[in-house]
Amino acid sequence: MKRIVWLLALGFGTSEATAQINGPALGPNRITQAAITGGALSLRDIRRRGLEIFTSPFNHLDGHGDGVVDPLDTVSPGGRPTTNGTWLRVNGLDTQTCLECHSIVSNATIPATLGIGGVAGIGGSAFAGVTSIDIVDADASGVAEVVGRLINPPFLFGSGGVELVGKEMTTDLQVLKAQAQANPGVSVALVSKGVSFGSIVYDDNTQTFDTSAVEGIEHDLVVRPFGRKGEFISVRAFDVGALQFHMGMQPVEVVGSGVDGDGDGVVDEILVGELSALHIFNTNLDRPVEVGSRRNQVKRGRQVFFDAGCAACHVPELGTQTRTLDLAFPEIETDPTQNIYYSFDLANGPAGFRKSPNGGIRVPMFSDLKRHDMGSGLAENTGSALDPFFITPRLWGISDTAPYLHDGRALTLDEAISMHGGEGAAAAAYFGGLSAIDRVRLLAFLGSLRTPTDPAADISQPVRQ
Ligand code: HEC
Ligand code: HEC
Repeated sequence: MKRIVWLLALGFGTSEATAQINGPALGPNRITQAAITGGALSLRDIRRRGLEIFTSPFNHLDGHGDGVVDPLDTVSPGGRPTTNGTWLRVNGLDTQTCLECHSIVSNATIPATLGIGGVAGIGGSAFAGVTSIDIVDADASGVAEVVGRLINPPFLFGSGGVELVGKEMTTDLQVLKAQAQANPGVSVALVSKGVSFGSIVYDDNTQTFDTSAVEGIEHDLVVRPFGRKGEFISVRAFDVGALQFHMGMQPVEVVGSGVDGDGDGVVDEILVGELSALHIFNTNLDRPVEVGSRRNQVKRGRQVFFDAGCAACHVPELGTQTRTLDLAFPEIETDPTQNIYYSFDLANGPAGFRKSPNGGIRVPMFSDLKRHDMGSGLAENTGSALDPFFITPRLWGISDTAPYLHDGRALTLDEAISMHGGEGAAAAAYFGGLSAIDRVRLLAFLGSLRTPTDPAADISQPVRQ
C-alpha cells in the first residue's frame, strides 16, 4: 500500500510541487560535486538527491529532449528530430524519468510490488541502434525482424556490490597483464576470483600482447559488468548514456560546462555533482535476497543447478577484498583506484551486503561477469552481422523479474533456460532431459532468488510540498 501511494504522489515527490507545473523538475537547489566532496552532506542527503534525479520527470526547462536536428546524424542523442515534442520511442527520447522503466520490484506478487530501481515489462523495453522493424512482414517469414537492439530493463538492486567485484577483477587482471609484460613469451593465466578470462602472452620482439586467448572481455582486460553486452565499468558510465539516450539530458561531463550540447537552449542540464548523486543513490540500493534456501526442495534444486552446468557461467557468489566502494571522477577504465572522490561501506550501509571473513563482502549475484556466445537463435541483428554475445545476467532476484532474456522473449523461467544456445546449449539440453521432479526442484531453487522488498526504504517516503 505504502508504495502505491508513493507512486501516485510521484508528481509531488521532487523538491517543489510547482516545479512540475512551471519550473524545471530539478528545482533551484542543484547538487554540486563540491557539495559532495566537501563533506557537509550526509550519505543519506546525497542518496535522497540522487533519488530525486532518478524519479523526477524532466521537462523542457531542464533541457529534456534534443534541439535542432543534425541532418548528418538524426539517430544519435543531440541531433534527433524532436524539437516539436515528438516522442521517437525508437532510438531514444522515450521517457521523462528513469523510473518509467525501472519501477517494478516484483511482478510475482499480487498486485505487483512497485519501487525505485526495479525492472519493467515489455512496455519499458528500449529500442537502440534500430534501423528497421519489419512491421509489414515484407519477407513473409511470420516474424517481424528488428535490425538493431530491443532490450528489456534489468533492475539496479545490489549494483554497488556488482561494481566493486568488477573493479577488483579489473585491478587483478591489470596486474596479470603487467606480469605478462615482465615475462615475455610466458603465457599468463587470467584468473580473478576463480573466474578464468583466458590467457595472455607478451611478445618482446613486436612489443605487443597476444590477446587471441582472452575470453569473455575486451582485450584491454577491463571487466565491464553493466549493460547486457558488458560494455560499462560502472553505473555512472551507464547513467551518462541513459540520460542522453532516453531523455536528451546532456551531462556537463560530456558536453562541457556552460555549453548547450544539443542546441535546445539549456546549458548545464546535468551537473557533475548530479551524476555523482545518481551514482551514489544507485549503488546504495538494497541487494536481492535468498528466501527459503533451507527448504529441502530448494537445496536439491541448487544441486541440480550445479549438475546441469549452470554455475559455470552463473557463478553463485563472488567475494570482494574490501567492503568499501570507491567512486571516481573522471573514471579511468583500466585503473579504478584513480581520482576517487567518495567512498562508502557496502556492508554496514544501506546496500546491506553480508560480510565475508576476510574483510570483504559476499556478492551472490550468479554471474561470472563474462560475455558468452549464446547462439544464433538469441543473436541480435546489427544489420551487418548477428551478434550472439551477452554478459551472463545475474540471476539474483530472478523469480520476481519476468519477462526474461535480453529482449524479454521468454515469459517464463522454463522458456528462458530452454532458449540457451551456443555455449549454453549443453545446459539447456541437460535441462530438457531432467526428470519432472528435478525440474520442479531447479525451478524451486530459482524461485528462492528474490528481489529486496523495499530497496530504498529509508529515503523513499513521498513528500508533498
Ligand atoms: C525506456 C526505458 C528505460 C529508461 C527510461 C531508463 N532505462 Fe535504464 N535500462 C533500460 C534497459 C533496456 C537497460 C538494459 C540496457 C543494456 O543492456 O544495454 C537498462 C539498464 C540500466 C542500467 C544497467 C544495469 C545493468 O545491470 O546492466 C543502469 C545503471 C540504468 N539502466 C540506469 C538508468 C538511469 C539512471 C536512468 C535514467 C537516467 C535509466 N536507466 C532510464 C531501460 C531504461
Ligand atoms: C555459457 C554460459 C551459461 C550457462 C552454462 C547457462 N547460462 Fe543462463 N544465461 C547465460 C546468458 C549469457 C544469458 C543471457 C541471454 C540473453 O539475454 O539472451 C542467460 C540467461 C539466463 C536466464 C534469464 C536471465 C534474465 O535475467 O533474463 C536464466 C533464468 C538462466 N540463464 C538460467 C540458467 C540455468 C538454470 C542454467 C543451467 C541449466 C543456465 N542458465 C546455464 C549464460 C549461461
